[in-house]
Amino acid sequence: MEPILRAEGLGRRFPVGDGVWALKKASLSVPAGRFVLVAGPSGCGKTTLLNLLGGLDRPTRGDVELRGVRYSTLDESGLARLRRTEIGFVFQFFNLLSDLTAEENVALPMRMTHMPRDEVAARTAMLLEAVGMSHRARHTPYELSGGEQQRVAVARALANDPTIILADEPTGNLDSKNSTEVMDLFRRFNRERKQTFVVVSHDPAFAEYADVVVWMQDGEITSVEEREGRPS
Ligand SMILES: Nc1ncnc2c1ncn2[C@@H]1O[C@H](COP(=O)(O)OP(=O)(O)OP(=O)(O)O)[C@@H](O)[C@H]1O
Ligand SMILES: [Mg+2]
Repeated sequence: MEPILRAEGLGRRFPVGDGVWALKKASLSVPAGRFVLVAGPSGCGKTTLLNLLGGLDRPTRGDVELRGVRYSTLDESGLARLRRTEIGFVFQFFNLLSDLTAEENVALPMRMTHMPRDEVAARTAMLLEAVGMSHRARHTPYELSGGEQQRVAVARALANDPTIILADEPTGNLDSKNSTEVMDLFRRFNRERKQTFVVVSHDPAFAEYADVVVWMQDGEITSVEEREGRPS
């Protein structure tokens, strides 16, 4: 199958001291509909890799291609448009806008694409329902628990029906019950909507959710483990 996301010889060097290769030379192919877990110890380059895959950062060498579009051919506004329309992001610290209610946070990415108002409202309601947050639609982030905030953030990431969802330690600030709930939500969207996920976690326990586990160490991908027959 044609990969939906491809990284080729991806490297990122940060100009600190003599220079730090946070990511040395990573190549990766993600077929559509896969659930990929990126695992490895702290400092091994997981966030660096994910930021490059999401076009949040530019590589020092190599390139990323999403649905055949090479990031190196895009200027900043082209890359921003691609992030807005093709990628859903979920972060460790939720990153909801604190002045907006749950439903306003979920609606925001749709507003930015000039979707008609009634369509935005209907899709917002559907997404909040899907993550089990309809009853908290009018709450602001401070009025929500961490787990609830992350569920709203998941709904927001799915707002524009992205090609791919990238999540960096999405359960890093959640207790084990909420962590499992968020991962179960991801798996449900992956199964039911065939959405592609790349999820970073240093917790190898989440490998059970994945079709593919990408193991990293010292700025390198050390192995790519295809998992068969994952439980439903
Ligand atoms: N902006 C930066 N400037 C300099 N060095 C950086 C920068 N970002 C990351 N690094 C370094 O690159 C390496 C990889 O960092 P990265 O954040 O990708 O690790 P990680 O695998 O996500 O770790 P964690 O599990 O702790 O989140 C680390 O050694 C880090 O110190
Ligand atoms: Mg990280």
